Amino acid sequence: MSECKVVSVIAEKGGVGKTTVALTLAVAAVQAGNKVAVFDLDPQATATQWTDRREAEFPWVVAIPSTRLSVSLENAKAQGVNFVVIDTPPHAGSASVEAVRYSDLTVIPVEPHLYTIETLPKLNDIIRLGGDRPALFLISKAATQGKEGLDAATYITKQGFNVCPTILHLRAAHRHAGNVGMTAQEYEPKGKASEESNLVYMYTLSLLTI
Ligand SMILES: Nc1ncnc2c1ncn2[C@@H]1O[C@H](COP(=O)(O)OP(=O)(O)OP(=O)(O)O)[C@@H](O)[C@H]1O
Ligand SMILES: [Mg+2]
Repeated sequence: MSECKVVSVIAEKGGVGKTTVALTLAVAAVQAGNKVAVFDLDPQATATQWTDRREAEFPWVVAIPSTRLSVSLENAKAQGVNFVVIDTPPHAGSASVEAVRYSDLTVIPVEPHLYTIETLPKLNDIIRLGGDRPALFLISKAATQGKEGLDAATYITKQGFNVCPTILHLRAAHRHAGNVGMTAQEYEPKGKASEESNLVYMYTLSLLTI
């Protein structure tokens, strides 16, 4: 990957797994040999605080306001960064629109729950406002038992949206990893959370290289 790819992660609801997905994609990209930066647009600074608990140098995580996206992207590229992930605050608003505008792909984690699925039209509006850029819905935090994840994926696909074929199930490894400044791929490389994370990254990559 020579040119710089930019992936943003947005959602309307809080706590659906935006930061987990953003860091998971970033670490997968690092493990694949890329020079990776995460731009943290969330005033909660969850991704930035994660690096305080982390030993590895990459991904770089930088807290910036959305107004600094353009210049920060140029600076990152000048330093050889070739993969950028943008994490955003909940209640997708102007920061999310800006993130979408600069992204080759926007990933939207969705919990398989009606309350979250009801936010789809607003998220669609955000994508349009950001210039109708490519978007991928990702079922996140689905129970490992039963088929709520699959049902949600089928429902969202029927609405005409692109849904990731891999579901990121509710797995404790994500939480445990975050607590120690890691992602699931680092915390439990052979675990299911790691496997699903890598599949999501591979699918994301396939959309970026089309
Ligand atoms: N697939 C998952 N399995 C288990 N726990 C998860 C998963 N995804 C996220 N979590 C946990 O859920 C909590 C919220 O996740 P996260 O911070 O990634 O969500 P968020 O959408 O970024 O939240 P916010 O809206 O506050 O920014 C964290 O404790 C995280 O470890
Ligand atoms: Mg977050």
